[in-house]
Formats: sequence, structure tokens, C-alpha cells
Amino acid sequence: MSSDSANTRRKPLRSTQWFGRHDRDALVHRSWMKNQGIPHDQFDGRPVIGICNTWSEATPCNAHFRELADHVRRGVLDAGGFPIEFPVMSLGETLMRPTTMLFRNQCAMDVEESIRANPFDGVVLLMGCDKTTPALLMGAASCDLPTIGVSGGPMLNGKFRGHDIGSGTHVWKFTEMLKTGEMTEADTIEAESCMSRSAGHCMTMGTASTMASMVEALGMGLPTNAAIPAVDSRRKVLARSAGRRIVRMVDEDLTMSRIATRQAFENAIMVNGAIGGSTNAVVHLLAIAGRLGVPLSLDDWDRLGRTMPCVVNLMPSGEFLMEDFYYAGGLPVVIREIGEWLHKGALTVNGRTLWDNSKDAVNYDERVITPVARPFKPQGGIAVLRGNLAPDGAVLKPSAATPQLMQHRGRAVVFDDIDDLHRRIDDPALDVNADDILVLRNCGPKGYPGFPEVGNFALPAKLLKQGVTDMVRISDARMSGTAYGTVVLHTAPEAAAGGPLALVETGDTIELDVERRRLHLDVADDELARRRARWRPPAAHARRGWVKLYCDTVQQADKGVDLEFLVGSSGAPVGRESH
Ligand code: FES
Repeated sequence: MSSDSANTRRKPLRSTQWFGRHDRDALVHRSWMKNQGIPHDQFDGRPVIGICNTWSEATPCNAHFRELADHVRRGVLDAGGFPIEFPVMSLGETLMRPTTMLFRNQCAMDVEESIRANPFDGVVLLMGCDKTTPALLMGAASCDLPTIGVSGGPMLNGKFRGHDIGSGTHVWKFTEMLKTGEMTEADTIEAESCMSRSAGHCMTMGTASTMASMVEALGMGLPTNAAIPAVDSRRKVLARSAGRRIVRMVDEDLTMSRIATRQAFENAIMVNGAIGGSTNAVVHLLAIAGRLGVPLSLDDWDRLGRTMPCVVNLMPSGEFLMEDFYYAGGLPVVIREIGEWLHKGALTVNGRTLWDNSKDAVNYDERVITPVARPFKPQGGIAVLRGNLAPDGAVLKPSAATPQLMQHRGRAVVFDDIDDLHRRIDDPALDVNADDILVLRNCGPKGYPGFPEVGNFALPAKLLKQGVTDMVRISDARMSGTAYGTVVLHTAPEAAAGGPLALVETGDTIELDVERRRLHLDVADDELARRRARWRPPAAHARRGWVKLYCDTVQQADKGVDLEFLVGSSGAPVGRESH
């Protein structure tokens, strides 16, 4: 047995049930593994570490993960462990239709069952593109082994004609400039090559960077996990260190539920506010907490984020990109800056507290990470709105919104679904003014299906040409973490589930008041009751397969959009053999 601390191991290894016995089943388990060149002495009772890999060429953000996995493997071997890499479903944000979010829970099921069914004592999760991070954390949480997250890291800054450009954020900008004639198609083709010029995930503070930051803030990743660029050699060192550390975590029986506690989630929500993180973190953290049995609600998001200043000046809300953030000191500096609000004693995967990991961090660039005393934006958190239009809540990101629109009354212009939007939004005859409120419905979890990132839909071309840059938009969809605007998202219940959004008609008046957290449809109750009596749910999207299972069982946005029967944990034990 090679692990130095094997003698102090807190409990017997799970993997000995596969490899440590003297019977036919153990012979089978070992013999077939030996066809990979594994010597017999590797079955000597050392911790077996699963390296859960979301590598795929169809997930460009994770396409460098075979190399990253190799660095984890070296770390596991350094520490006397037995690494076993295994693939799981990968979710590529840019290629998958209709939306990766439709498959987040499916990937989480794959991860959970792959971990539980195999002889792992601990797991390292390789995550990058948006949904791969929550999916892997959700699946691992439902097994609750010692677990450490390694993010793939952001791409290098985009560089286009002398300017830094950011993933996603500039896609929205360029699309609008194409509509107004400020760019040609040839310009955009050149720009797309300049935007994605290295391995890694989106390098704005979009969902991938936000979730990598959440991994670090939850304590589930090593310090600096969030920001090291994918191609920086220090990302490889981090992966190797994670491989070494997970072996010790097995010895210490430092399981995921001991780290991802209520305090850790509260820390993560506060850090999300301080980094100006993506609204998508709301549904993902709710879902991960649900797997661990940690009580967490939309109200926690509003309460903990309400006064949290944003100290990170990154696109889409700001100016810089993840590479700059790393050189400025990365997430440890943010944690140090907002330390007075955090649960300093929260434990992290390296066995130290979040505060111990961050208290000595140095800020090397106060343009990128501002001191908390003069924050980049006074309000970084997510605002949770309620009212007769969103009885179960809706969210808005104040730091990405236009201040003048945060209190607004306007006439609704309604689009019944995404096809209706595409048909009419750029029609010169569309009756719409800059003061109107655009409503898009049937884009929620059941309605689309899958809860896509269409809530930041582009403004009508004729208003863009007039110089309008933002309007209040309300939907039951999500938006890309790289996007911006005064957009109300995640309206619950969604229209397809009979939420009030289904009852809005063009010409109604809607009132948005972010300060008072109010979203109100100014229509009398008896008229709404008449409309409800006429409302019929949309036709089912599928009669079989995953989409049917998803639509029949998916929860609403305020619960995290997990499937009802996946909430909670089953632990890791499996009693029976296959032969
Ligand atoms: Fe993969 Fe943005 S597309 S992280």
C-alpha cells in the first residue's frame, strides 16, 4: 500500500470491494483492467481515483481535456493513488440543439451513475464549458465521495484590430452592428477567428468563468482554479496538484458534503455578486444544493447579494477579461476584499479554510479588481423580482442593466414563442417604441423545451438603427452569462406551465421596479381570470425519450430546474455484483 497516510485512513476504501477480495469477482475486476498494462501491485489497496472527463471535440471549450487529465493522472500517481479516467456526456454550448440546458440533468445522471457503479474512492471532475460544471457537481453530489473540481480555464483574450474582444459579449455587439450596417459579414468572419484564439472556455465573466469561480468559492476547487488561462502552464500544475490532493482527501474521508455546506453556498452567492457573475449561477447552485440537501432559495440570492458591491471590472458588465483577472490576482483577491461578509471558516478541498487560502492575496491591478471601498459597481448581486407576473420569482442582473430602466412602466409587446419573435422582431411594420416592454414567452424549461439563453434577444432592428441600445425585456428564458441589458429572466412559473406570463397581451401595462423588487402586470384580476379560463397548455414536445422524461418531471426555475426525482443523494454504496 503506497499512500503515506494509509495508516491513518479514516475508513476502509470502497475500491477494495472490487479489487481487494480473493474470489471470482475480484479476479474478473482485476484481470480485465490488466489489459491496459496495469501491474498486479497496483491493486494493493491504494485509493482509486476516477478522473471524470468531459473531453469532446464537439465541446471546443473542453477540447484540451485529454492533456489536462494526464496532468491529474500524474498527480494521482505522485501521491500513490490509482488513476482511472472515464468519459461522461459532454455538453458543448455552441453546437448543441436546442440548448445544452436540456441535457444538464442527463449529464448529471451519467456522472452520478458512472461514479457509483465503478470502484472509485474519490473523483476529480474536469469541467469547463457552461453546463459541464453544474452537471458534474450535481452528479458527484448525489454520490458524495471525496471530490475535487478542476476547471479547464478560460481562453486568452480575444484580439481584433487592436482591441480586446470577449467571447459572447462581442457576438451580441457584432450582431447588432451587422444589423445597423456598422460591420460587414467579412468583418464578422475575421472577428470570429480573433475571438477564439486558444484552448479554453469563454474568457468573459460569462457562465463558464462564473461557475469556475463558484467551484473555487464553494471550496470545491484549489485556490486560483477560477482564472488561470487554459494554456498557461500553471493550469497544468493546478491539475497535477488536484491529482495529488484527492488521494489525501480519500484518506481524510473529506467528502463533498463536508465542504459544500450551507455556509459554502452562502459564500458562493456573495462571491457571485462581487464578480458580477452570471444569472445562470442561480439555477445551477440551487440544483447542486438540492442534491446535497442544503436548503437554498431565491430569497437567499436576493438577501446575500443585495448589498454586495461588484469589484471585478470584466465583460459583459465591464472592460477586462479573464486573462487580466488572473494577472491581477484572481479570485483570492476578491475573496480577501469581501472577507468581512464571508464565512471565513468554510473548509475547502485543500483542507484549509477559504479565508486562509485568500487572506494574503495581493491585488496587482486595481483597474481589474477594485478595492471594495470604491467598487466597480455598487450593486453586484442578482435581484429577485416578484409580483403578479412572477409569483415564484424572476431574476435580473443590475450590474448588466441600464440604470434608467430599473424603474419603468411600459406597454407590453408580446411574442408568443421564439418562432414568433424571429418572424416579427425586425419587421419594419412592427408597432414598437423604445419605451415599450418586450415580452417573450414559452421559452422556459418545459416550453422551449430546455430553458435556452434567448432572454437577451436583440432589439428590433428599426429601434437599433434609431440608436436605441437597451429596452426592458421579460421572458421565462435564461440569458447567456456573456450578455447584458435590462432583461428579466427565469420568470416562474413559466408560461407553458400556466404562469401569468401566458396571460399577457400586447397593449397591457407592465411595471418593473427593481429597487422594490416588483414585477407587476397592471391588469385587473377578473380580466386575468377570464384570460386564464381561455388559456390552453401548448402541445407536448415529445411522446418518447429524454425530452418526454424531461418535460414531465422538470422543476421550475426557482427550484433549480433539476428533475423532481433527481433531487437528493443516494450515496455511493452498491451491494450487488454483475456475475
Ligand atoms: Fe463554452 Fe462559452 S461556449 S464556455
